[in-house]
Amino acid sequence: MKSLILIGSPRKHGNSGIVANELQEKLSAHKNNIDCEKIWVADLDIRPCTACGYCDKVGKCIIKDEMQPLYTKVEEADIITFISPIYFGSITAQLKTFIDRFQPFYASKFLLNNPKIKKGSNKNVSLITISGMDRDYFFRNAQEIINIFCMNLNVDLGPTLHLKNIDYASEITEKPDQLNKVSELAQLLIQ
Ligand SMILES: Cc1cc2nc3c(=O)[nH]c(=O)nc-3n(C[C@H](O)[C@H](O)[C@H](O)COP(=O)(O)O)c2cc1C
Repeated sequence: MKSLILIGSPRKHGNSGIVANELQEKLSAHKNNIDCEKIWVADLDIRPCTACGYCDKVGKCIIKDEMQPLYTKVEEADIITFISPIYFGSITAQLKTFIDRFQPFYASKFLLNNPKIKKGSNKNVSLITISGMDRDYFFRNAQEIINIFCMNLNVDLGPTLHLKNIDYASEITEKPDQLNKVSELAQLLIQ
């Protein structure tokens, strides 16, 4: 089994990284030998979609940057987890740029009638958000974006988790109950 953890934070040694490590540890310890890869999306050269229309015709993105290998990784992964801090009530700009580049998947499904991921693929997509405050609507905004990503990829959104009141870098380590919730989510992903 393959698992992909997509981290939206640009802050190394921050809360998202710690959550990602916890998730990776729990998934890798599973008896099914899950091959778990973490990707810091903000570290990559991923240019914004230019709405050129190329993918509408061929179902592929014309921009040759570090996004290209990620298409294959997403197609091949059995478990995909987005981990993002809340920025201005949403996911980070870096993660949104990554998501917008999935327009070829939208085009393949809705315009070319040839979805890249067939219905019933059993791909498990999940979302963890981390926010300094405790407003639920921040999370709802983020969840809706990932929901739309899932719809375009022809998969359903699985378990989600919103970790609240976590602000300064590594604050989550002082809140073991919150990290326990990450372990519980890992269990749901491998059931
Ligand atoms: C640019 C920016 C915008 C933010 N916007 C919000 C926000 O709208 N709501 C909130 O609760 N926290 C907000 N925060 C706080 C982060 O969500 C919080 O610090 C989080 O723990 C960062 O995760 P990280 O350590 O993984 O980077 C913001 C932080 C930054 C840097």
